[in-house]
Amino acid sequence: MIIRPMLMEDVEAVFQIECASFSMPWSIESLQQEVSSLFAVYNVVTIDERIVAYGGMRIILDEGEITNIAVDSSYRGRGIGRKLFESLLVQAKQKDVRRITLEVRSSNEAAKRLYLVFGFRPVAIRKGYYQKPTEDAVIMQLQLDF
Ligand SMILES: CC(C)(COP(=O)(O)OP(=O)(O)OC[C@H]1O[C@@H](n2cnc3c(N)ncnc32)[C@H](O)[C@@H]1OP(=O)(O)O)[C@@H](O)C(=O)NCCC(=O)NCCS
Repeated sequence: MIIRPMLMEDVEAVFQIECASFSMPWSIESLQQEVSSLFAVYNVVTIDERIVAYGGMRIILDEGEITNIAVDSSYRGRGIGRKLFESLLVQAKQKDVRRITLEVRSSNEAAKRLYLVFGFRPVAIRKGYYQKPTEDAVIMQLQLDF
């Protein structure tokens, strides 16, 4: 298993995982914009050169926002999401990020547990934030300055 920065040529494979993982997936164009953004950090996980997961964040000054993380469904439950998430947190620390925020569907127990493992705590609810199906978003935060 290798974790490396996401490249423009990875976008097609990442888009497949995105579409299989979310009811309202990001477009190819949005993914391309993220990869080329100076304010974003995106990583992919490869196994035998096949992309099996990706995740990323935006960083503005000392604030980070995890935008997305997804593991190919046939590779879930093997610790890949945990390793990938950890890699993003390490990069955030290296870039002197002091607070990281993310949003998660209130019913997404797997993701919420993953975030809790790394010390994220729920700080707010955004009512009816998601569509397909309509659902609240839980806003979770991690303070890195302790
Ligand atoms: C959330 C996701 C990224 C986790 O990736 P993963 O590789 O399956 O997770 P891991 O095997 O590394 O598990 C790490 C931790 O996550 C939690 N977790 C993972 N799958 C879980 C499940 N099915 N139920 C409950 N908790 C789960 C556990 O805390 C787990 O730690 P543990 O094994 O010590 O209990 C993956 O399920 C996924 O891609 N889901 C669809 C996309 C998504 O919802 N992304 C999050 C958007 S906010």
